[in-house]
Formats: sequence, C-alpha cells, structure tokens
Amino acid sequence: MTDDELFLTAILNCSRSDLYLHPRPLTVQEQVQLDEMRSRRAAGEPVQYIVGFTEFFGYRFEVGPDVLVPRPETEVLADVLIRELKAQNKKEYLILDIGTGSGCLAITMAKELAHCRVVAVDISPKALAYARRNVGINKVVDQIEFIERDMFWFMDETAHRFDAIISNPPYIPTAAMGTLPMDVKQEPELALQAGPDGLHFYRFIVPSSRRVLKDQGVLAVEFGDGQAKELQNLFAITGPWDKIQTCNDNAGRPRVIMAQIAR
Ligand SMILES: C[S@@+](CC[C@H](N)C(=O)[O-])C[C@H]1O[C@@H](n2cnc3c(N)ncnc32)[C@H](O)[C@@H]1O
Repeated sequence: MTDDELFLTAILNCSRSDLYLHPRPLTVQEQVQLDEMRSRRAAGEPVQYIVGFTEFFGYRFEVGPDVLVPRPETEVLADVLIRELKAQNKKEYLILDIGTGSGCLAITMAKELAHCRVVAVDISPKALAYARRNVGINKVVDQIEFIERDMFWFMDETAHRFDAIISNPPYIPTAAMGTLPMDVKQEPELALQAGPDGLHFYRFIVPSSRRVLKDQGVLAVEFGDGQAKELQNLFAITGPWDKIQTCNDNAGRPRVIMAQIAR
C-alpha cells in the first residue's frame, strides 16, 4: 500500500479495495487527520507509528515510538522455525523469544503452533507494554509469559529448558547508526545498536543457548547484511551444533541461521 492508502484505510477503518470500490469525499475532520499524517510522514516518522499498527505474518500488531516495527524479513525467521517445529511434530513445545519487542515472534509462534507456550524476554518495559496489548489483540494471552529482564541475567537464572529459542536481536554496528534512514533513526536505539561490529548479542546468545536448550533443541536467529560468515563461525566455535542451515530473505540475502544442538 502507498502511504496515502494506508493513512486512508486507518482513518476510514476500511480495506484498500474499499477505497476504490466505494470512494467518497472526506469530511473536514478526516481531511485534517490526513494532512496531519502526511506532515508527520514528511518529517520522517515511520508510517507504522503514524497509523499505530502493522501486519506481521498476517496478524495485527500495535506499534509506536517505543518499539521496533516488525519487518518482513523477520517473517522468514518465524517461518523457518515454524516449519522445523511442525516437522518435529511434538505434543507440545516450550519456546524462548529473546528480545521480544512488539511480541511479533512470540505471538506468531503461539498462533501457528497450537500446543506451544512461549517465554518472551525484553529489557524494555515500554516495548513490553506493546507486546502485552498485542497478545490481547491476537487472543493468545494464555500461551505467553512476558518477562522484563536483561537477557544476560535471564539466561543465567532461568530454570526452564526450551525446545526452541528464537531471536531477532539488535545487530546494527555502532558506526552505522548515523547512516540509517531517517525513519529507522526514530526507532529505539536499544532495539538496533549492537556494538562495534554488530555481533555483541550473538556472542552471548549462541553459547548461552546451549545451556538452556533441551536435547535436540533448536536455535534460530536473524542477522544483518554481511554478517552470515561471522554467524556461521560463531556456531562452529560454540558447537557441537547439528543441521546448521542459513536461509535467505525474500531479496535473496542470507538472513537467518538455525541449528540444532548436539551434545
Ligand atoms: C531488533 S529488536 C526485535 C524486536 C522483535 N523481536 C522483532 O523481531 O521485531 C530487539 C529487541 O531486543 C531488546 N533488547 C535489547 N537489549 C536487550 C537485553 N540486553 N536484554 C533483553 N532484551 C534486549 C530491545 O528492547 C528490542 O525490543
């Protein structure tokens, strides 16, 4: 959808096709709303913050300035793990989502895998407030437990053992933060910045996942452009891992790595 189509569907609470099948002039108040949305967009605000929601994996998520907007490439991460767990065909799954943000991954897992429970951790109370509203919107309240905690502490403290861990951690190198597009710069730095080479969180998540995964448990993480080799090396030196797979996003760029623990 174009920005204007998105604004109008939000203002008129209708679908894109309704805009063309049942066109009508805007009221004065609706026109004021549209003009205000256009000027926020011209000032560089993400379109999803302006309308207050986005779609991920076909589900609706409330978003705003304190939480990362779920990205289409992250749908690949969700899809890869869902396929793997469906193929395993267990009776139930306990999944950990590290850095849950809007809750998009945790909620998608809960919607797509009927017999799963998810523990979803984030350090940001503001992001978790969105995630908690999003479980309500998507009606999976009973399947997800949110925990406000630094992942570094959580992984040391947890007594749970997980069938799978999913994470889209921050992965932007510090020096690249200044070169991000204007709308991305308006998203929380906490969700983006990951040290000099962008690998800070993976250096913790990959080895520490080994301690909290069950036998045959699976770790799936998203990573940024140009980080595939480093991620593959990290799995190689923290192994043994089995069935290491690197998957591409829809633009054909390596984006997700998934591996099964071998002990
Ligand atoms: C890239 S965002 C991903 C959000 C969401 N999972 C998604 O895919 O759209 C990373 C998330 O990690 C969280 N985060 C950053 N540092 C953290 C830490 N030390 N412990 C736990 N969460 C952290 C941020 O608050 C943010 O919500």
